[in-house]
Amino acid sequence: MVRSRIAGTGKYVPANIVTNKDLLKYMDTSDEWIQERTGIQERHYAHRTEETTTTMGVEAARIAIERAGLTPQDIDFIVFATLSPDYYFPGCGVLLQRAMKMKEIGALDVRNQCSGFMYALSVADQFIKTGMYKNILVVGAEKHSFGLDFSTRGRNVSVIFGDGAGAVVLQPTTNENQGILSTHLHSDGANAEILAMYNPGTHANHWTEQKLADFDEAEMGEMFFSHAMIDKAQVYPNMDGPAVFKVAVEKFPAVIREALETNHLATTDLSLLIPHQANLRISQFVQKKLQLRDDQVYNNIQQYGNTTAASIPIALCEAWEMGKIKEGDLVCLAAFGSGFTWASALLKW
Ligand code: UT7
Repeated sequence: MVRSRIAGTGKYVPANIVTNKDLLKYMDTSDEWIQERTGIQERHYAHRTEETTTTMGVEAARIAIERAGLTPQDIDFIVFATLSPDYYFPGCGVLLQRAMKMKEIGALDVRNQCSGFMYALSVADQFIKTGMYKNILVVGAEKHSFGLDFSTRGRNVSVIFGDGAGAVVLQPTTNENQGILSTHLHSDGANAEILAMYNPGTHANHWTEQKLADFDEAEMGEMFFSHAMIDKAQVYPNMDGPAVFKVAVEKFPAVIREALETNHLATTDLSLLIPHQANLRISQFVQKKLQLRDDQVYNNIQQYGNTTAASIPIALCEAWEMGKIKEGDLVCLAAFGSGFTWASALLKW
C-alpha cells in the first residue's frame, strides 16, 4: 500500500520581533492582557516592502526541499495555503513556482485559513496515494502584519497574529510503519461571518435595499471597494473571539479523537500532538480534555503568535529540529478556524 510520508520540513520566520509591549505604541492593550488571554509574548513581522507571503514561503520551501534531498526542479506539484496572499489573484502558488524556477507544474492555492495547511496536506496526500505525483511541496505562509487594524478598535484580533511560513515535501512510501495514516476534513458555514474579512468581496451585504434603489452608476466601483469599508474596518479581519473559542474547544478534541479512532489508536499512543497555534488557552484546554501529558503537546505560540496556515508547519519543523519527533513516532496535527473549518491528520514519522 502506498502512503505519503513527510520527506522534509522547513520554516521561515522574519527577523523582526515585535513584543507585546511594542504594540502599546499603536493601541490600548497590555502585556498582561495578551499573555493571560492568549499566552503570546511576541510575534515576528515581515519586512514591510522586501518580504511577502510568497517570499517567506519560498524560504521555508528551500529548506524542506533540501532536507528531502531534492532540488526545486524535482517538485511536481505545489499546494500553497494562505489567507494573506501577495495578490487578490493570482495566488501564491504560481508566484512560488516562478521564484523557485520550477518546471511548469501544477500550483494549487488553498483558502481555508487556520485549517489551510491541513486541507493542503490532505489534498497532496490524495495525489500521492493515487500515484499522480511523487514530490509535492505543501506550503503554509502568512504576512498578517500588512492587513491588521492596529488601532484600539482592532486590538482583539491584531495582538494575536504573526507572520511566517512553513513547508513540507510529501513523497510516496510503501513502508508499513511510516506515513500519513489518515486525514479528516470538516466544515460548518453557519457561522462564516463571525471570523471573517468581509471586504473587498462580492457579497454586497453592506448595500441596503434602499441604497440599491438609489443606485448611481457612478458608484459602481464602490460596491467592491470604498472608503466606507475602510472607515468601518471591514477590510480587516473581524472576529467574535469568545464565540470562536467556544466552538474551537469542542471541535479540536473531536477531530483528534476521530483520527485516533479511525486508526484504532488511543490518546496514550500519541507521541506528539501539534495543534494549530490559535491560543495557548485553547491548546491547554484540548490537552486537559484528552488527558495528554505536557511532553505529548507542542506549542510555540508564545514566540510566534497565531500564524494561521503557517502555524502547523512551523511548529512541526521546529519540533523536529528540536529532536521531539523521531522515526516511528505517532504524530497528530489538528486545526480549527474561520469558516468554520477544522481538520486533523495522523501520521507515523
Ligand atoms: O485561529 C483562528 C481561530 N481563532 C481562535 O480560535 C480565537 C478564539 N478566541 C480567543 O482566542 C479569545 O476570544 C481572544 C484571545 C480573541 C479574546 O479573549 P477573550 O478572553 O475572549 O476576550 P473578549 O474578547 O471577551 O474581551 C474581553 C475584554 C473586552 O473588554 P470589556 O468589554 O470586558 O471591557 C475587550 O474589549 O478585553 C478587551 N480586549 C482587550 N484588552 C486589552 C480585547 N482585546 C484586548 C487587548 N488588550 N488586545
